Amino acid sequence: MTARLQMSADTSKKCVVLGVTGGIAAYKACEILRLLQKRGIDVYVVMTRNACSFVAPLTFETLSGHPVAVDTFERPATWEVEHIALAKRADLFLIAPATANILAKMACGIADDMLSTTVLATRAPVMVAPAMNTGMWDNSATQQNLRTLQARGVHVVAPANGRLACGDSGAGKLEDVCVIVDRAMEVLCEQQDMKGLRVMVTAGPTREPLDPVRYISNRSSGKMGYAIAAAAQRRGAEVTLLTGPVSLDAPAGVKTIPFTTTQDLLDRALEHAADQDILIQAAAPADYRAKTIADQKIKKQSGAELVFEMVENPDVAATLGRDKRPDQLFIGFAAETQHVQENAQGKLIKKNLDMIVANDVTAPGAGFDVDTNIVTIISREEIRQLPLMSKADVADRILDEALILKQKLAVRS
Ligand code: PMT
Repeated sequence: MTARLQMSADTSKKCVVLGVTGGIAAYKACEILRLLQKRGIDVYVVMTRNACSFVAPLTFETLSGHPVAVDTFERPATWEVEHIALAKRADLFLIAPATANILAKMACGIADDMLSTTVLATRAPVMVAPAMNTGMWDNSATQQNLRTLQARGVHVVAPANGRLACGDSGAGKLEDVCVIVDRAMEVLCEQQDMKGLRVMVTAGPTREPLDPVRYISNRSSGKMGYAIAAAAQRRGAEVTLLTGPVSLDAPAGVKTIPFTTTQDLLDRALEHAADQDILIQAAAPADYRAKTIADQKIKKQSGAELVFEMVENPDVAATLGRDKRPDQLFIGFAAETQHVQENAQGKLIKKNLDMIVANDVTAPGAGFDVDTNIVTIISREEIRQLPLMSKADVADRILDEALILKQKLAVRS
């Protein structure tokens, strides 16, 4: 079924690898292919075996002008080369229609056919346009898989409501093909304005042990830092994410390095800071740690007070700020509960930052463990207050400001 892929296409054109899975909407993928071609896009098609029951690969081969990839195992001598070549060739990997099955495989990293193998291998942005029965769409497993994929940066074109082929009515109908193609073009044309920049982001809490089973920590979920890492990666930066213990999936294409304590974070940060163009410290490191860590689990002593002596932790931001190069841009956060602007400005100076993002962590919808934030971006020259917005949007606004400041630094240094 799979002919050898011809990779001799016009390389000046953007390339979409179009994944087609087995659903009644598979025929609409022909129209998507045509619309993409009209916009000057070169399209390669990868089909699942089930998709071939709905539309013959020959249809896609004829429309695309390229062989269609279906089976990884038919020609064992070449399949590995083919799926990697396709994965590398993609400027965007679009799966439309995407069944519940492919979403589940992607969420789990399963690679058991040509499509799932190729999408796992790609570093290109990935977009899915699901189409399925309403019950399957509503199923919490499918919704959980979608959330997992979205958290990894996969773009989702949600299905429309309507009458489905199975006779049911509700959500699950493949979104209008023009809408899918418009969204694909938006991602393809998205500005890669951070290409060539190396960005280190820190995220999440630290844990300072008290004994083998207990620790002191805080409410940071890592969402703010992860959103910044994902946005910088999407905009073309090479991103290193230092992460505390959180329950988030690492954004695709980001190098992730774990830390536990504040000292640990400092050690990891010092290993990597010198290579970076931009440092963004969104983590919430503990300012204090226990003076001594008990070797054994501390036993309950009824009626007696338990007192821990705490000692000061190193200030990671202040250490990095002291040693930073003049061309490096350093951004910190300030988690405040009062005198937000004033306290943040103090930290900007004390830690030798170029910019600080202040959040009032007591405001509803802001700060710890929520998907939104309300921030004030403070540089040495400007103060910009932003309204309540998603952490993803806050991340982009921080990066917009960072690029302006970085240019100014480049001129001065
Ligand atoms: O993770 P989320 O749930 O999404 O929540 C996001 C957030 C509230 C954690 C984030 O928006 C935020 O405000 N991060 C900074 C938390 C913090 O430690 O703030 P601070 O004001 O105590 O510290 C000021 C700056 O110094 C911060 O950049 C901090 O990372 C850094 N710091 C603090 C202490 C320390 N020992 N070393 C440091 O480097």
